[in-house]
Amino acid sequence: MSQQNYVVVGGSKGIGLGLTERLLARGGDVTVVSRSADQLPNNPNLHHLVADVTQDTINAADLPGTIHGLAYCPGSINLGPLRGLKSEAMTSDFQLNVVGAVTCLQASLAAMKAAGNSSMVTFSTVAVCQGLPMHASVAAAKGAVEGLTRSLAAELAPKIRVNCVAPSLTDTPLAEKLLASDQKRAAMAERHPLKRIGTVDDIAAIAEFLLTDVSGWITGQIIGVDGGMSSVRA
Ligand SMILES: NC(=O)c1ccc[n+]([C@@H]2O[C@H](COP(=O)([O-])OP(=O)(O)OC[C@H]3O[C@@H](n4cnc5c(N)ncnc54)[C@H](OP(=O)(O)O)[C@@H]3O)[C@@H](O)[C@H]2O)c1
Repeated sequence: MSQQNYVVVGGSKGIGLGLTERLLARGGDVTVVSRSADQLPNNPNLHHLVADVTQDTINAADLPGTIHGLAYCPGSINLGPLRGLKSEAMTSDFQLNVVGAVTCLQASLAAMKAAGNSSMVTFSTVAVCQGLPMHASVAAAKGAVEGLTRSLAAELAPKIRVNCVAPSLTDTPLAEKLLASDQKRAAMAERHPLKRIGTVDDIAAIAEFLLTDVSGWITGQIIGVDGGMSSVRA
Protein backbone atom coordinates (compact mmCIF):
# COMPACT_ATOMS: atom_id res chain seq x y z
CA MET A 1 0.00 0.00 0.00
CA SER A 2 1.28 3.53 -0.76
CA GLN A 3 2.22 5.88 2.05
CA GLN A 4 -0.87 7.04 3.93
CA ASN A 5 -0.87 10.63 5.21
CA TYR A 6 -2.90 11.60 8.26
CA VAL A 7 -3.59 14.91 9.97
CA VAL A 8 -4.50 14.70 13.65
CA VAL A 9 -5.68 18.05 14.98
CA GLY A 10 -5.22 17.78 18.74
CA GLY A 11 -2.82 14.86 18.43
CA SER A 12 -0.47 16.06 21.18
CA LYS A 13 -2.37 14.68 24.19
CA GLY A 14 -5.12 12.33 25.25
CA ILE A 15 -7.11 10.43 22.62
CA GLY A 16 -5.46 12.30 19.73
CA LEU A 17 -1.99 11.29 20.95
CA GLY A 18 -3.13 7.67 21.25
CA LEU A 19 -4.47 7.86 17.70
CA THR A 20 -1.23 9.43 16.44
CA GLU A 21 0.82 6.61 18.00
CA ARG A 22 -1.44 4.01 16.35
CA LEU A 23 -1.20 5.65 12.93
CA LEU A 24 2.60 5.84 13.20
CA ALA A 25 2.73 2.17 14.26
CA ARG A 26 0.90 1.19 11.05
CA GLY A 27 3.49 3.08 8.97
CA GLY A 28 1.49 6.24 8.41
CA ASP A 29 2.89 9.73 8.04
CA VAL A 30 1.22 11.96 10.65
CA THR A 31 0.97 15.74 10.92
CA VAL A 32 -0.17 16.83 14.37
CA VAL A 33 -1.73 20.27 14.75
CA SER A 34 -1.79 21.59 18.32
CA ARG A 35 -0.49 24.31 20.62
CA SER A 36 2.05 22.10 22.42
CA ALA A 37 4.31 19.23 21.37
CA ASP A 38 6.15 18.14 24.53
CA GLN A 39 4.44 14.73 24.79
CA LEU A 40 4.94 13.81 21.12
CA PRO A 41 7.31 10.90 20.39
CA ASN A 42 10.39 11.31 18.20
CA ASN A 43 9.58 9.76 14.86
CA PRO A 44 10.71 10.74 11.36
CA ASN A 45 7.15 10.24 10.09
CA LEU A 46 5.72 12.67 12.64
CA HIS A 47 5.46 16.40 11.88
CA HIS A 48 4.14 19.12 14.16
CA LEU A 49 2.32 22.28 13.17
CA VAL A 50 1.91 24.76 16.02
CA ALA A 51 -1.54 26.33 15.91
CA ASP A 52 -4.39 27.37 18.17
CA VAL A 53 -7.43 26.36 16.11
CA THR A 54 -9.58 29.04 17.77
CA GLN A 55 -7.24 31.84 16.66
CA ASP A 56 -4.86 30.80 13.91
CA THR A 57 -5.58 30.15 10.27
CA ILE A 58 -4.45 26.71 9.13
CA ASN A 59 -3.03 27.01 5.62
CA ALA A 60 -3.35 24.17 3.14
CA ALA A 61 0.30 24.80 2.21
CA ASP A 62 1.38 23.72 5.73
CA LEU A 63 -0.38 20.34 5.37
CA PRO A 64 0.54 17.34 3.18
CA GLY A 65 -0.49 17.52 -0.50
CA THR A 66 -2.54 14.35 -0.11
CA ILE A 67 -4.43 13.51 3.09
CA HIS A 68 -5.98 10.06 3.56
CA GLY A 69 -7.38 10.76 7.01
CA LEU A 70 -8.20 13.79 9.17
CA ALA A 71 -9.12 13.59 12.86
CA TYR A 72 -10.39 16.64 14.72
CA CYS A 73 -9.85 15.99 18.44
CA PRO A 74 -9.94 19.33 20.35
CA GLY A 75 -12.88 19.51 22.71
CA SER A 76 -14.09 20.81 26.04
CA ILE A 77 -15.83 19.60 29.19
CA ASN A 78 -17.20 22.83 30.65
CA LEU A 79 -19.77 21.66 33.16
CA GLY A 80 -22.05 23.79 35.30
CA PRO A 81 -25.64 24.69 36.17
CA LEU A 82 -27.93 26.69 33.91
CA ARG A 83 -27.86 29.75 36.21
CA GLY A 84 -24.13 30.17 35.66
CA LEU A 85 -24.08 29.62 31.90
CA LYS A 86 -22.30 32.50 30.18
CA SER A 87 -22.83 33.23 26.51
CA GLU A 88 -19.05 33.79 26.09
CA ALA A 89 -18.32 30.29 27.42
CA MET A 90 -20.98 28.77 25.17
CA THR A 91 -19.60 30.64 22.18
CA SER A 92 -16.08 29.46 22.92
CA ASP A 93 -17.29 25.84 23.27
CA PHE A 94 -18.93 26.17 19.85
CA GLN A 95 -15.83 27.77 18.36
CA LEU A 96 -13.49 25.03 19.60
CA ASN A 97 -15.74 22.02 18.93
CA VAL A 98 -17.57 23.01 15.75
CA VAL A 99 -16.03 25.97 13.92
CA GLY A 100 -12.49 24.63 14.44
CA ALA A 101 -13.49 21.33 12.83
CA VAL A 102 -14.92 23.17 9.82
CA THR A 103 -11.88 25.40 9.27
CA CYS A 104 -9.48 22.44 9.61
CA LEU A 105 -11.52 20.46 7.08
CA GLN A 106 -11.60 23.43 4.70
CA ALA A 107 -7.80 23.67 4.86
CA SER A 108 -7.50 19.91 4.24
CA LEU A 109 -10.20 19.47 1.61
CA ALA A 110 -8.17 19.73 -1.61
CA ALA A 111 -5.57 17.30 -0.23
CA MET A 112 -8.31 14.89 0.91
CA LYS A 113 -9.85 14.99 -2.57
CA ALA A 114 -6.39 14.43 -4.05
CA ALA A 115 -6.10 11.20 -2.03
CA GLY A 116 -8.98 9.63 -3.97
CA ASN A 117 -10.58 8.10 -0.89
CA SER A 118 -10.28 9.88 2.42
CA SER A 119 -11.93 9.90 5.83
CA MET A 120 -12.63 12.40 8.60
CA VAL A 121 -13.33 11.62 12.24
CA THR A 122 -14.94 14.05 14.67
CA PHE A 123 -15.63 13.68 18.40
CA SER A 124 -18.91 14.10 20.24
CA THR A 125 -19.87 12.89 23.74
CA VAL A 126 -22.36 10.49 25.33
CA ALA A 127 -23.95 13.64 26.82
CA VAL A 128 -25.66 14.36 23.49
CA CYS A 129 -27.85 11.26 23.34
CA GLN A 130 -28.23 11.01 27.16
CA GLY A 131 -29.46 14.09 28.99
CA LEU A 132 -26.91 14.68 31.76
CA PRO A 133 -27.29 17.55 34.25
CA MET A 134 -24.70 20.38 34.08
CA HIS A 135 -23.73 19.44 30.51
CA ALA A 136 -25.83 22.05 28.63
CA SER A 137 -23.00 23.93 26.93
CA VAL A 138 -20.91 20.93 25.89
CA ALA A 139 -23.99 18.91 24.91
CA ALA A 140 -25.17 21.77 22.69
CA ALA A 141 -21.77 22.16 21.01
CA LYS A 142 -21.30 18.41 20.54
CA GLY A 143 -24.88 18.06 19.27
CA ALA A 144 -23.81 20.50 16.58
CA VAL A 145 -20.76 18.31 15.86
CA GLU A 146 -23.09 15.35 15.27
CA GLY A 147 -25.27 17.37 12.86
CA LEU A 148 -22.16 18.66 11.12
CA THR A 149 -20.84 15.11 10.75
CA ARG A 150 -23.99 13.82 9.05
CA SER A 151 -24.29 16.86 6.80
CA LEU A 152 -20.66 16.71 5.68
CA ALA A 153 -20.93 12.96 5.12
CA ALA A 154 -23.78 13.63 2.68
CA GLU A 155 -22.03 16.52 0.97
CA LEU A 156 -18.65 14.84 0.57
CA ALA A 157 -19.74 11.29 -0.41
CA PRO A 158 -18.56 9.20 -2.16
CA LYS A 159 -14.90 10.30 -2.00
CA ILE A 160 -14.69 11.45 1.62
CA ARG A 161 -16.29 9.59 4.52
CA VAL A 162 -17.18 11.49 7.71
CA ASN A 163 -17.92 9.75 11.02
CA CYS A 164 -18.04 10.71 14.67
CA VAL A 165 -16.94 8.93 17.87
CA ALA A 166 -19.02 9.71 20.97
CA PRO A 167 -17.09 8.65 24.09
CA SER A 168 -18.16 8.60 27.70
CA LEU A 169 -15.70 9.60 30.42
CA THR A 170 -12.18 8.68 29.34
CA ASP A 171 -8.92 8.95 31.24
CA THR A 172 -7.19 11.90 29.50
CA PRO A 173 -5.88 15.34 30.52
CA LEU A 174 -9.29 16.80 29.60
CA ALA A 175 -11.02 14.64 32.23
CA GLU A 176 -8.37 15.18 34.92
CA LYS A 177 -10.61 17.16 37.30
CA LEU A 178 -13.43 14.61 37.11
CA LEU A 179 -10.98 11.81 37.97
CA ALA A 180 -8.89 13.63 40.58
CA SER A 181 -9.29 11.07 43.40
CA ASP A 182 -9.73 7.32 43.81
CA GLN A 183 -13.28 7.93 45.09
CA LYS A 184 -14.21 9.97 42.03
CA ARG A 185 -12.74 7.32 39.71
CA ALA A 186 -14.66 4.55 41.47
CA ALA A 187 -17.93 6.53 41.39
CA MET A 188 -17.53 7.32 37.70
CA ALA A 189 -16.69 3.70 36.87
CA GLU A 190 -19.78 2.54 38.75
CA ARG A 191 -22.07 4.69 36.55
CA HIS A 192 -21.14 2.65 33.47
CA PRO A 193 -22.73 -0.74 32.71
CA LEU A 194 -19.21 -2.08 31.97
CA LYS A 195 -18.05 -0.75 35.39
CA ARG A 196 -15.02 1.19 34.29
CA ILE A 197 -14.12 4.47 32.67
CA GLY A 198 -12.69 4.60 29.16
CA THR A 199 -9.00 4.41 28.27
CA VAL A 200 -7.29 6.34 25.50
CA ASP A 201 -6.88 3.06 23.64
CA ASP A 202 -10.62 2.24 23.82
CA ILE A 203 -11.37 5.42 21.87
CA ALA A 204 -8.26 5.73 19.68
CA ALA A 205 -8.80 2.20 18.32
CA ILE A 206 -12.23 3.15 16.95
CA ALA A 207 -10.93 6.42 15.53
CA GLU A 208 -8.13 4.48 13.76
CA PHE A 209 -10.72 2.04 12.39
CA LEU A 210 -12.85 4.91 11.05
CA LEU A 211 -9.87 6.68 9.45
CA THR A 212 -8.66 3.65 7.54
CA ASP A 213 -10.01 1.60 4.63
CA VAL A 214 -11.33 -1.29 6.77
CA SER A 215 -14.30 0.97 7.52
CA GLY A 216 -14.68 1.87 3.84
CA TRP A 217 -18.47 1.33 3.76
CA ILE A 218 -19.25 3.44 6.86
CA THR A 219 -20.15 7.11 6.68
CA GLY A 220 -22.40 9.55 8.52
CA GLN A 221 -22.35 7.48 11.72
CA ILE A 222 -22.15 8.54 15.35
CA ILE A 223 -20.47 5.65 17.16
CA GLY A 224 -20.87 5.44 20.92
CA VAL A 225 -17.77 4.13 22.70
CA ASP A 226 -19.05 4.52 26.21
CA GLY A 227 -19.03 1.39 28.37
CA GLY A 228 -22.69 0.87 27.52
CA MET A 229 -23.75 4.23 28.95
CA SER A 230 -25.84 5.37 25.96
CA SER A 231 -27.89 2.23 25.43
CA VAL A 232 -27.70 -0.26 28.28
CA ARG A 233 -29.34 -0.18 31.70
CA ALA A 234 -27.44 -2.62 33.90
N1 LIG B 1 -11.89 12.60 27.84
C1 LIG B 1 -13.20 12.45 27.96
O1 LIG B 1 -13.72 12.04 29.02
C2 LIG B 1 -14.11 12.73 26.80
C3 LIG B 1 -15.47 12.39 26.92
C4 LIG B 1 -16.33 12.67 25.87
C5 LIG B 1 -15.85 13.28 24.71
N2 LIG B 1 -14.53 13.59 24.62
C6 LIG B 1 -14.06 14.25 23.40
O2 LIG B 1 -12.99 13.53 22.82
C7 LIG B 1 -12.09 14.45 22.17
C8 LIG B 1 -10.68 14.20 22.66
O3 LIG B 1 -10.67 14.44 24.06
P1 LIG B 1 -9.39 14.27 25.00
O4 LIG B 1 -9.94 13.86 26.32
O5 LIG B 1 -8.35 13.47 24.35
O6 LIG B 1 -8.91 15.81 25.10
P2 LIG B 1 -7.53 16.41 25.63
O7 LIG B 1 -6.85 15.46 26.55
O8 LIG B 1 -7.85 17.78 26.16
O9 LIG B 1 -6.68 16.58 24.29
C9 LIG B 1 -7.13 17.53 23.37
C10 LIG B 1 -6.14 17.76 22.26
O10 LIG B 1 -6.58 18.89 21.52
C11 LIG B 1 -5.57 19.90 21.50
N3 LIG B 1 -6.21 21.21 21.57
C12 LIG B 1 -7.07 21.67 22.52
N4 LIG B 1 -7.39 22.93 22.28
C13 LIG B 1 -6.74 23.29 21.14
C14 LIG B 1 -6.67 24.48 20.39
N5 LIG B 1 -7.35 25.59 20.76
N6 LIG B 1 -5.89 24.52 19.28
C15 LIG B 1 -5.19 23.41 18.91
N7 LIG B 1 -5.22 22.25 19.59
C16 LIG B 1 -5.99 22.20 20.70
C17 LIG B 1 -4.70 19.59 22.69
O11 LIG B 1 -3.36 19.99 22.46
P3 LIG B 1 -2.67 21.34 22.99
O12 LIG B 1 -3.13 21.57 24.39
O13 LIG B 1 -1.22 21.00 22.84
O14 LIG B 1 -3.11 22.41 22.05
C18 LIG B 1 -4.74 18.08 22.75
O15 LIG B 1 -3.81 17.54 21.85
C19 LIG B 1 -12.61 15.85 22.50
O16 LIG B 1 -13.32 16.36 21.40
C20 LIG B 1 -13.52 15.64 23.68
O17 LIG B 1 -14.54 16.62 23.76
C21 LIG B 1 -13.64 13.32 25.62
